[in-house]
Amino acid sequence: MNRSVLSKKITGELIDNLKNDSHAFLSFLRNQNDGIIIYVLEKLGRLENGYSREPLQNLLNHSNENIRALSIKNLAKIEDINLLSTFVKYASVDESTLVRREAVSAIGRLRNEKTIPVLINLLKDKDPKVVMQAIRGLLVFSYNSKVKNELKKLLNHPNELIREVIHKEVNGVQYKSKSQQKHDESPEFLKNIVVHGDVQEIIKYVPDESVHLTFTSPPYYNARDYSIYQSYDEYLNFLERVFKEVHRVTKEGRFFILNTSPIIIPRISRQHASKRYPIPYDIHPFLIKMGWEFIDDIVWVKPEASVKNRNAGFLQHRKPLAYKPNAVTEMLMVYRKKTDKLIDWNIKQYSLEKVKKSKVLGEYETTNIWRIDPAFDKVHTAVFPLELCNRVIKFYSFVGDLIFDPFAGSGTLGRAALNLERNFFLTEKEAKYVNRIKEELNKVGGLFNQIGQSRFLELNEFIKLSKGEI
Ligand SMILES: C[S@@+](CC[C@H](N)C(=O)[O-])C[C@H]1O[C@@H](n2cnc3c(N)ncnc32)[C@H](O)[C@@H]1O
Repeated sequence: MNRSVLSKKITGELIDNLKNDSHAFLSFLRNQNDGIIIYVLEKLGRLENGYSREPLQNLLNHSNENIRALSIKNLAKIEDINLLSTFVKYASVDESTLVRREAVSAIGRLRNEKTIPVLINLLKDKDPKVVMQAIRGLLVFSYNSKVKNELKKLLNHPNELIREVIHKEVNGVQYKSKSQQKHDESPEFLKNIVVHGDVQEIIKYVPDESVHLTFTSPPYYNARDYSIYQSYDEYLNFLERVFKEVHRVTKEGRFFILNTSPIIIPRISRQHASKRYPIPYDIHPFLIKMGWEFIDDIVWVKPEASVKNRNAGFLQHRKPLAYKPNAVTEMLMVYRKKTDKLIDWNIKQYSLEKVKKSKVLGEYETTNIWRIDPAFDKVHTAVFPLELCNRVIKFYSFVGDLIFDPFAGSGTLGRAALNLERNFFLTEKEAKYVNRIKEELNKVGGLFNQIGQSRFLELNEFIKLSKGEI
């Protein structure tokens, strides 16, 4: 029975009657299937202390774990310390972790000092979610020195989420900003400049915590002539060095979005196989190690007609193992510079007016699948579609922010930034692409791109600028 049919059959009035008459509730439960019992348990609402526990306690031996868990959840609403032994029993012996977690949560909801020894005991549980619920219950008594000591012991717990929670509770919010600048501001000299040179050299002169958002598509390993490396290891090491610096120059709790996809190096002859490199998956581990927190994976989907066809052989012979799907996706891996502070903290660093001006109004993509046509450029062979940059900038930055692309190519991100009243900072190694950026930026109209606002610099000029010498 679906929920709309159920809601007609099991009315609010019926549920109220069952709540007020435990005999009627008991006989009702005897005749119903699991779906209806679950529906009623979910809809019970508030339960006062005088409410009869019997119907719910009867359900604690039900064979369906969802029914047992919901019964405990409802019993917890009564906040009766006499139920402690019932909750302890189910927290310790029930075979379902769902029920055990609910029982520990119920113990915590009692907010009674008598629960302290039980909750301390549950800190040794094997299920990290049970431990987490026990921590939650104990935090109410964090003034108690025994509780504090027991929680401190978890600083080296094997589970990373438990370690993080305890670390925050014991040591408080730790991040110390290395920048004197307000969070919503960035150094003037970085605004709307394109620097020609190797990003590894240029970035050394960028102060810590200057950038609000980085969105980039790194050179693909040996796929184009601007991206030749001796080995895959050398390529990954190069990206690791650059992204470590991106981490340094990023402001607290701000985002880094990386567009990559696996690439294929074709076979040298029919006697050899081609090799596929899983670039996003190889980059991910070192990003986490250097202090980026993984937030989301967005899949950019292109029309099949726009990508290389790998299907021709299989289409003919249909032999298993030789299947080669056409690769229509690229990844947008979304990371945040790790901090104890919540996203709300970042938003609060902006004036109400700026937040209002930056709102993403109207229709927007609600899923992590972004269907966007690829873009083509007469000079550069691998450019971002403008729409991709527009979305990333709107979702992950505020008006006036500084947006960085270390591998700027034709500078699509810069154009999008100007259109959306953000500032850009671009670096690009190849002169021909820097010239392309110049041509493209000149086409951007609007108040934000007043004549002379964008500047093009060589590395030596940028160094002087960073030192305030020009
Ligand atoms: C995939 S393309 C980026 C395209 C860009 N997203 C666009 O919309 O045009 C990567 C770019 O990184 C540049 N590049 C490679 N190594 C670099 C380095 N060490 N420093 C700066 N740029 C570099 C390449 O010249 C290339 O233009």
